[in-house]
Amino acid sequence: MDVYRSLLEGNKQWVQEKLGEDPNFFNDLAKGQSPQVLWIGCSDSRVPANEITRTKPGEIFVHRNIANMVVHTDMNMLSVLDYAVNVLKVRHVIVCGHYGCGGVLAAMGSQQFGIIDNWLRNIKDVYRIYSKELDAIEDDKARFDRLVELNVMEQVFDLTKTSIIQNAWRERNLPIVHGWVYSLNTGIIKDLGVSFDKSSQLNTIYQIEAKKVELA
Ligand code: CO
Repeated sequence: MDVYRSLLEGNKQWVQEKLGEDPNFFNDLAKGQSPQVLWIGCSDSRVPANEITRTKPGEIFVHRNIANMVVHTDMNMLSVLDYAVNVLKVRHVIVCGHYGCGGVLAAMGSQQFGIIDNWLRNIKDVYRIYSKELDAIEDDKARFDRLVELNVMEQVFDLTKTSIIQNAWRERNLPIVHGWVYSLNTGIIKDLGVSFDKSSQLNTIYQIEAKKVELA
């Protein structure tokens, strides 16, 4: 069967399965969503947020792009973050990268790919920040793995630099921002332990004061 048709066929079977387990499955989901988690992950087809965390539709609000980046000029990411934090009021924001990430690997080299080079440059910036540590790692794969981890950590920091996160912390002490890395080889998620919440001390230069009352 053609891939295109098999997707539609798969959908039919999935609907039957879900209805078999719970006749109200779709009726309940159609009423609305109140996910507690925002997931910022890589577009890589092998890292599906719901499947690897065994969560159901309705449980995770998802944003994915190449190499799970938090780029401050990315209106798409900012809109997802704003909606998740201020409307859905998620309790956790998770940046989940993965070892073997093609975006990170491409950023480590000097080959020109096209438009995407501009996106990958953000990862090169991460390399530059940690170049001392990374250049000291002799094994290529170990250096690659470490950049994947450091890239996730930097995206977590980038989230905490946004007014969206800082205002939410001021108003309701949430969300907590986490950094994870998924292994394609084992399926296991590693928590990098870089969780940030209201109590986190951000570098002074990134601290944003509460907004003053605006005059008309
Ligand atoms: Co990737």
